[in-house]
Amino acid sequence: MISELFTLPQSMKVPAIGFGTYNAKGGDNLQMIKDAIEAGYRYFDTASLYGTERALGQAIKESGLPRELFFLASKAWTDEMGYEETKAACERSLNRLQTDYLDLYLIHWPKVNEEDTDWKERCQETWRAMEELVREGKVRAIGLSNFLPHHLDAILETATIKPAVNQLELHIGYSQEAAVAYTQSKGILVQAWSPLARGAMDNHPVISELARKYGKSKAQICLRFLYQKGIMPIVKSADKGRMLENMMIFDFELERADVQMLECMPQNTWQGEHPDFAIPKVKSNFNQ
Ligand SMILES: NC(=O)c1ccc[n+]([C@@H]2O[C@H](COP(=O)([O-])OP(=O)(O)OC[C@H]3O[C@@H](n4cnc5c(N)ncnc54)[C@H](OP(=O)(O)O)[C@@H]3O)[C@@H](O)[C@H]2O)c1
Repeated sequence: MISELFTLPQSMKVPAIGFGTYNAKGGDNLQMIKDAIEAGYRYFDTASLYGTERALGQAIKESGLPRELFFLASKAWTDEMGYEETKAACERSLNRLQTDYLDLYLIHWPKVNEEDTDWKERCQETWRAMEELVREGKVRAIGLSNFLPHHLDAILETATIKPAVNQLELHIGYSQEAAVAYTQSKGILVQAWSPLARGAMDNHPVISELARKYGKSKAQICLRFLYQKGIMPIVKSADKGRMLENMMIFDFELERADVQMLECMPQNTWQGEHPDFAIPKVKSNFNQ
């Protein structure tokens, strides 16, 4: 079990590492999530887009553990944005997850496409719906994903509830320093998606050398690096051994010089999806 915690507004505590549910090799999401629960993960990241909400709800039910032990985060996709749309999207997510509340609900992506000139108003209307979901008790906290500083400012302009988190693509080789610093300066927890760069940094000599130095795996170096920067990794593995390995990052500390070396690695491994330009053209799984 992960005992280290991060704190969200209203003193909500979250485990310092979350499990990402996108996407099991071979598609057996139910087995992957059951294994993750057994390994000790309690924070689960899903989204209407992923098609894993049903499996997550089922796995929690079959675990026999009380719902309150889990922290469930889901997201509204771009075709679920707008006041009415987001309220309906949340109901669908709750149904698929077989629960009556979400711990965290995120706007998945700020813009619909590159030509989207109405994104700011749509984000603000979506946020208004999310704030109401909090007041209705359907959601405990609300947040953002892939919001760069100018997107975040659009939310802060009209928000009455401050975002609890901003989930960004972050890993060694893609550090988004400006977005991280700005988000943290607003007192918002930064989460890292693809914290292992989906394996792209596996053969990097610096990470390999640090793994040898600390007697840890390369994945553990990558995750510990983020944790030491106050960033919560959302990591995915379909392998039980690697699930356990990814949780074991709290018994060592990277020296300052090593953190600095990792911070200065060339920026060359991002997934190629920029919130303003290269936007994933997919639809949420409305009918999954
Ligand atoms: N907000 C967003 O827009 C957004 C976008 C993408 C992802 N996400 C979230 O972030 C989560 C994680 O991102 P991700 O899956 O793209 O990337 P990731 O966690 O960086 O990488 C997952 C890959 O790393 C491998 N892996 C895991 N642990 C390992 C270890 N200890 N040693 C070696 N390889 C290891 C996995 O393989 P095995 O499964 O074989 O172990 C898998 O291929 C997603 O599941 C999702 O919840 C959010």
